[in-house]
Amino acid sequence: MIRSVVQGCGAYLPERIVTNDELARKVETSDEWIQQRTGIRQRHIAADGEFTSHLAIKASQRALDHAGIKASDLDLIVLATATPDETFPATATRVQAELGMTRGAAFDVQAVCAGFVYAVSVADSLIKNGVASTALVIGAETFSRILDWNDRGTCVLFGDGAGAIVLKAEQGKGTSADRGILANALHSDGRQHDILYVDGGPSSTRTTGFLRMEGKEVFKHAVVNMAAVVGEVLEKAGLESKDIDWLVPHQANKRIIDGTGRKLGLPAERVVVTVDKHANTSAASIPLALDTAVKDGRIKKGDLLLMEGIGGGLAWGASLVRW
Ligand code: ACO
Repeated sequence: MIRSVVQGCGAYLPERIVTNDELARKVETSDEWIQQRTGIRQRHIAADGEFTSHLAIKASQRALDHAGIKASDLDLIVLATATPDETFPATATRVQAELGMTRGAAFDVQAVCAGFVYAVSVADSLIKNGVASTALVIGAETFSRILDWNDRGTCVLFGDGAGAIVLKAEQGKGTSADRGILANALHSDGRQHDILYVDGGPSSTRTTGFLRMEGKEVFKHAVVNMAAVVGEVLEKAGLESKDIDWLVPHQANKRIIDGTGRKLGLPAERVVVTVDKHANTSAASIPLALDTAVKDGRIKKGDLLLMEGIGGGLAWGASLVRW
């Protein structure tokens, strides 16, 4: 059985750090409120002229180096983003050109904060179907460009960044002991549009628009949907929550992350948390957290990882990966 095995990972955060105290000088908020409700202490914000593709390219170069793979070996790029450089073409094609990859296909996937899990699932399917053999999967965002900086209910929650992994087709035995992606589960519920959306777009307003969110409602759905999708993906792989070595969740809010960890019966030290350092970077947050725990030596070859995320749509999903 063909498995999509992770060869390496990389991440990139823009240089500029904006602390909670700095934000408190612009909108009526406080470091205490933000930390208590979300666990966020700071976020990175892209410089003028620094686009989603620029962050994606830097993260991708690091992932390729870590994997020991050349861009010319790639035959697929799937980039998850809700903040593309332009309406079209896909930001992935910019990354393709900049990396010097001249064959195969590059395209974007849009599932907001669930984007990375969606992109992993799409790349895994294309690898298993024989359409591609070596894929770069990226999550990259510049949410600072779609924030209403006067809305304290949303502007304190998000940041910019990018992360990437390299997947390669390898022969597995078809058991849960195989390295690679073991199972994926994806869901969406378009009826929940109004609790998390951007109030602009090329076809509707011809403007970019700003992010609008009913935080409490999103919170409720996140807790319920995460528990369900995690159970589903474990069942698909024939595994149980006690088999999980690391929870690498979407980094939106420390309280949601802690809740999911508790439901799985995982001790806090088995949950990767980076939301304090980069806030919610939407599709970039899972690979940013992953890269941190791989590079500091926590995640080791053979470990079982659960990645999960939920975002606008609502869209949510989970992937189980043997590192
Ligand atoms: N600073 C200070 N006070 C604030 C701030 C702020 N930054 N923002 C809101 N408040 C106030 C509100 O005005 C309200 O005041 P009031 O009681 O006088 O009306 C009070 O704080 C409570 O507001 P709530 O919105 O009820 O606060 P809540 O406890 O729900 O926390 C939060 C808000 C952090 C947004 C929480 O609901 C949450 O984390 N939701 C999940 C959001 C999420 O995960 N989104 C990610 C999905 S990502 C994607 O797809 C893009």
